[in-house]
Amino acid sequence: MVANMAEVFTGSFTQQEPIPEDAIDAAVAVMHHGRLHRYNTVQGETAEAALLEQEFAAMVGAQYCLAVASGGYAIATALRAVGVKPGDRVLSNAFTLAPVPGAIAAVGAEPVFVNVTEGLVIDLEDLAGKLDQARVLLLSHMRGHICDMDALMTLCDAAGVTVVEDCAHTMGASWNGVPSGRRGAVGCYSCQTYKHVNAGEGGLLVTDDPEVAARAIMLSGSYMLFDRHVAGPPPETFETIKYDTPNISGRMDNLRAAILRPQLRRLDAQIGKWNARYQVVEDGLRDTPGLTVISRPDAEHFVGSSIQFLLSGWQTPAIKAVLSRCAARGVELKWFGGAEPVGFTSRYDSWRYAKSPVLPASDAVLSSIIDMRVPLTFSLDDCALIARIIRAEVTAVFQQG
Ligand SMILES: Cc1ncc(COP(=O)(O)O)c(C=O)c1O
Repeated sequence: MVANMAEVFTGSFTQQEPIPEDAIDAAVAVMHHGRLHRYNTVQGETAEAALLEQEFAAMVGAQYCLAVASGGYAIATALRAVGVKPGDRVLSNAFTLAPVPGAIAAVGAEPVFVNVTEGLVIDLEDLAGKLDQARVLLLSHMRGHICDMDALMTLCDAAGVTVVEDCAHTMGASWNGVPSGRRGAVGCYSCQTYKHVNAGEGGLLVTDDPEVAARAIMLSGSYMLFDRHVAGPPPETFETIKYDTPNISGRMDNLRAAILRPQLRRLDAQIGKWNARYQVVEDGLRDTPGLTVISRPDAEHFVGSSIQFLLSGWQTPAIKAVLSRCAARGVELKWFGGAEPVGFTSRYDSWRYAKSPVLPASDAVLSSIIDMRVPLTFSLDDCALIARIIRAEVTAVFQQG
């Protein structure tokens, strides 16, 4: 179809789908009985939170799972559970969002940022050069881009670096058939409204390590009720840790768990819908002059809940012109090159509590990244229209330049 300058998109980039009816029914049932606290159960009852943990563990093939208050809380808990202490350094991605360095700061540790590649994943060469600076890598699969996990794990295993995976954007994704979050010692997921399942807020943590699981359960605020965790390690695992692991309250409640369980059962179907939309946008953007689409490796099974492209080598005024021209036509794009943090978007040098040297290689990539949400409330026609608008505006500005 020929690009039509009059076309305007009128949908919302922040509107997710409604909660499915069976999830609403499950939530109402919890409200009817009133036992919203996960440890408030009657004889013979398994709490919704415990069932959610059991089902998620089975879904990703993990030994243990813990449901918590948020994705950021899951990450901070994972860092504590693998032994990160105040003053420690933690390797992490230069391209990520604020809750990631925030979780490192919550533990009193300091991030060591690792460069991002033009494929929008952690730069393994830069990582290899920094592995002697920390004992733990908090690997963020930012915007759903998964690095070569086989190569990363080989590097980290050889260096004795423990990997905690931030899977806020990769729930349901995999690398070479292994679910995201299952190569590192711990995988952390978010159930916040803009993620792949929606409980408003919430997080999940998975691991195969019984001690890490036991510490995480204690940290989340289990008091001495850890035997109610059907996806937790056996009670004897807690014997050695229950006296010296603090309760840093951050439990998930049964209401959120009830909303999430039916959504987990639909996750694969939802991923199919996201990826169909992603494909339409990507097809519409491909071969636009001045614009680079991100090529996705065959080993990566991703979830296209957002899309990124690069305007490499563009000057700031030209990028700002694209953003405002697209916004005028109803298309909300985010840019990782802005000097000031805006909305959900910020950069490693915006987090001034976390000292970092300038990373010129990352700056070059970040200054070219354009990011767009793809909510499932968009139809395939919406996605085609959005791509036509972006293509027309990028082309127009590029030709002026
Ligand atoms: C990359 C990334 N990691 C972690 C989180 C934390 O998730 P939550 O909002 O559930 O704390 C987010 C949330 O936006 C995120 O984008």
